[in-house]
Amino acid sequence: MKKINPLSLSHLILKNQIKPGDTVVDATVGNGHDTLFLAQLVKTGKVIGFDIQENALKKAQALLDENLRDASNVHLIQSSHENISDYIKTEITAVIYNLGYLPGGDHSIITKFEPLVRSLISAIQLLKPKGIVSIMSYRGHTGNEYSQLLSYVTHLKQDQIDVYQVSALNQKGLPAELFILQKK
Ligand SMILES: C[S@@+](CC[C@H](N)C(=O)[O-])C[C@H]1O[C@@H](n2cnc3c(N)ncnc32)[C@H](O)[C@@H]1O
Repeated sequence: MKKINPLSLSHLILKNQIKPGDTVVDATVGNGHDTLFLAQLVKTGKVIGFDIQENALKKAQALLDENLRDASNVHLIQSSHENISDYIKTEITAVIYNLGYLPGGDHSIITKFEPLVRSLISAIQLLKPKGIVSIMSYRGHTGNEYSQLLSYVTHLKQDQIDVYQVSALNQKGLPAELFILQKK
């Protein structure tokens, strides 16, 4: 038996939707764990990853090189995820966001609400019908975007996108939450 948490549920949903050959996006590459997960799902498809920190992308590239026979279909870009539509012109199946700071890195560099929203608007436009956006949102650090994000996704238009929230209801503190969006 495996332990369930919001991130494992995110991966379960993505695994169910992503097929070999698909193009998918990791909007917050960080140490590259989600990027590797996506690359293993799309196989010969394409993964495009964004992070603003060079050291994150270097760590992620090392993880990919260590674990994939051929990482040439994974493209890591040092740029904010708000610029997603400058780099991607084709339909995508899924986008994953894992918000907050880089584990093991500079905790003062965090994702911010305004660029996130600009990114979400572009990502949703690029998504194919039934495409998925997965957002892991953390509430424990100063300056986190959780409340603004909750309000934003709650008000997305029902005829365009479905919005789901996964919350740990009986955990102490401020556990991370998962938002899953599915384009109509
Ligand atoms: C929680 S970490 C991501 C963890 C990662 N998915 C993994 O599997 O290791 C959040 C990352 O978002 C990055 N980030 C912050 N603002 C960003 C932005 N505007 N665009 C892209 N990445 C950003 C940070 O540099 C950090 O590496």
